[in-house]
Amino acid sequence: MVRCDCDTIKMHIGSETPTRRDKTRNFSSWSDQGTPLDGTYAMANPYKTVMLPLDVNYAGLEIMMPNEKIFIADLVDNQPVETVFLVASKAVRETKNGDPYLCLTLQDRTGTIEVRAWDNAIALDSRFEADHFVAIRGRVSSYRGELQITLSDLERVEESEVNLADYLPHSKWSADELFDSLLALIEKEVESEEVRRFFAKLFSDQEFQSRYKRAPAAMSNHHNYLAGLLEHSLSMARLAVSMGRHYNAYYPGLVDVDLLVAGCIIHDMGKIEELHYTRAFEYSTPGRLLGHITIGAQWVEETAAKMQPPLDPNLVMQLKHLILSHHGRQEYGSPVTPKTAEAMLLHFLDMVDSRMAMWWNACESSIQGPGQSEGWSDYQRNLNGSLYIAGDAARGWQAKGQMPPMGSGPGLAPGPALRESVGKENGEVRVEAEEDFGPRTSTEDEVTSGPDPNLNLFGE
Ligand SMILES: [Fe+2]
Ligand SMILES: [Fe+2]
Repeated sequence: MVRCDCDTIKMHIGSETPTRRDKTRNFSSWSDQGTPLDGTYAMANPYKTVMLPLDVNYAGLEIMMPNEKIFIADLVDNQPVETVFLVASKAVRETKNGDPYLCLTLQDRTGTIEVRAWDNAIALDSRFEADHFVAIRGRVSSYRGELQITLSDLERVEESEVNLADYLPHSKWSADELFDSLLALIEKEVESEEVRRFFAKLFSDQEFQSRYKRAPAAMSNHHNYLAGLLEHSLSMARLAVSMGRHYNAYYPGLVDVDLLVAGCIIHDMGKIEELHYTRAFEYSTPGRLLGHITIGAQWVEETAAKMQPPLDPNLVMQLKHLILSHHGRQEYGSPVTPKTAEAMLLHFLDMVDSRMAMWWNACESSIQGPGQSEGWSDYQRNLNGSLYIAGDAARGWQAKGQMPPMGSGPGLAPGPALRESVGKENGEVRVEAEEDFGPRTSTEDEVTSGPDPNLNLFGE
């Protein structure tokens, strides 16, 4: 029988009867020259109407392409589910009785979910690989407090059939908007000609620039979505301006704000190479063998080596120290601990920004998690327990679809000079100041937070 939920009935007058797999995998090859018929069978997938051949014997035929995308964040216990997901990982394991079963982690832009297939595991396993898109049929259940799906059937779906944006999580802001704000911040806030020259050179590499705009900041925990690195780095750079001014008002000249802003922008840039993020996020081989701290420090040196006239060697060393020490402790992956005021502030800013992002993520579980007391999140491993999230925080999370534009904040009116200069491929560009920025003044901004010395938040 043809499974069908849609209202419109269309049938294709065709001659060839595809195999069952053809029907589930190659819808796009079916002709659109169909004749609408009333009261018969129909089917649509989220992206196109599919015409069914008239001369097919439908007995036993099951069409798997669902009518609409169902998102992981919307799943509830005991819900039958038919939709398309991206395969983040897969493995065949054995039960205690030695029977094979299939373990999958599937994802879409709203999260991931564990999936198990207890029957037919080997055959199902042969139909797809990790990073493929699959149309699944199954039922949601709750296991040890987590939702998972018990699978009854699955077919591969071609990438051309899906909307990629449905499957890869992305920052709430566009990468272009974030990047414009970052360049504007450099233009407005960075006075050092040497630091500005460094950024002009760094971002003049178009491939680097596009990867910097796309990369996540982490595999999990915080900013683990496309453009997450950019969102995280910009947020820290903005804090750096406020915090640097604040302490310079108390202790004149203690903080080199230009250097601190630079450190925020480059501290995690090695993530660009450390992670794969064209499909499900995972560590790359250079990421596993070298790590983002080493990769980032290397890039500073390589970028400086290409500059003419040469970048101030002391600035190169300071920039490398910022990257190498930003995890704060050797046991957290930093080969040296912070030895400058800017390096210490950078480490704390990284902690503050990553924690606040985790707190925001915890809002979701406080509102949507099953069986929780009102206002309390479920257990947050990296934040040492359940969090109380109510009032404005809860309302703010619920209104997260309406995020403010990125173009506001410390001195962030967009300016064209650097933006234009970085558009010149591999050109040596000297960035001219467009206006006199005037003396910096202290603000009321203050960040009060501190790291829990027992937690390493820099990994996954
Ligand atoms: Fe890091
Ligand atoms: Fe970071």
